Amino acid sequence: MSTIPLVIDTDTAQDDCVALLVGLLDPAADLKAITMVAGNVGFERQVANAFLTLSVAGRLGEVPVHLGCRRPLTREWVSAENVHGDGVGGLTMDASGLEPDPKPGVDALIDLAAANPGELTIVCIGPLTNIAMAAIKDPRFVANVKSLYIMGGSNNARGNITAAAEYNFYVDPEAAKTVFEAGFDIVVVPWAPLTLNEAVFSREQIAEIGALDTPLARFFVRIVSTTLDFDESVGIAGSTHPDSLTASVLLHPELVRKSSRMSVQIETSSELTRGYAAMSWGVHGLDPNATVVEAVDGAAFYAQLSAMLAIATVPSRSFSN
Ligand code: RIB
Ligand code: CA
Repeated sequence: MSTIPLVIDTDTAQDDCVALLVGLLDPAADLKAITMVAGNVGFERQVANAFLTLSVAGRLGEVPVHLGCRRPLTREWVSAENVHGDGVGGLTMDASGLEPDPKPGVDALIDLAAANPGELTIVCIGPLTNIAMAAIKDPRFVANVKSLYIMGGSNNARGNITAAAEYNFYVDPEAAKTVFEAGFDIVVVPWAPLTLNEAVFSREQIAEIGALDTPLARFFVRIVSTTLDFDESVGIAGSTHPDSLTASVLLHPELVRKSSRMSVQIETSSELTRGYAAMSWGVHGLDPNATVVEAVDGAAFYAQLSAMLAIATVPSRSFSN
């Protein structure tokens, strides 16, 4: 079976962990590296969460973790700890002896793309700071990358951190603008309506996963717990899975039921609509710069994730609360 070479650029908490599991365990994936970017929770916490996820997958030490940008290009970091807590439901693991790869995340992205010209896809599930920095630092980076699969924005629908904006683009709008104007081949998985329509797992589904009783299933149930409570408090009937959907859409394009070429432009000057993604669907005379996923087979996505979580991995290290 041929595999897809990819890097996951992540602000590791909750569904980022699930997306990492997809990259680590899906037979279609050849995960070359994990790069960390400032986002959901404190940077060191995100790194610990990535190591914990690697361990639960039984793959600690097999995939390098590179540290990328610790803050957005020009703005202060905005935490989502009110949504995610620590991002792993309080789970802990002895991390003694674990070190990130010494190569900085931006350089790792540049070097991996250069080593695999036209072949490497980057799954971008946090703010786009690392990707923008790599494009600024290396003029060949855009051409060397095959495609970016970006979780971010909303497709003419509500945001989540503000009425207008989705978190990843809100946190570093200048980076998002840089990336969408750089000439990459881009696929976008938006927050709304796509994620809210097709990638929300109900308490019943989460209990179904818990009943699998594997290390992965127990890990999943714990790490989604805080976000599940938050999501319900804002009227969403379950835990949200945009990041794992983004990785899954890359590896299993048959999940996509509808997508359209669009012009995606990012707002950077207004405070009110900071990070808003204007997704123009073709009638406004704007050149398209991205493919926006509009509908997926949500039931098939859930079935794929459940099947993955049923795998009886042997965690590299034990974890506990
Ligand atoms: O707005 C949703 C995004 O913010 C996802 O990437 C989620 O993981 C959080 O980082
Ligand atoms: Ca994320």
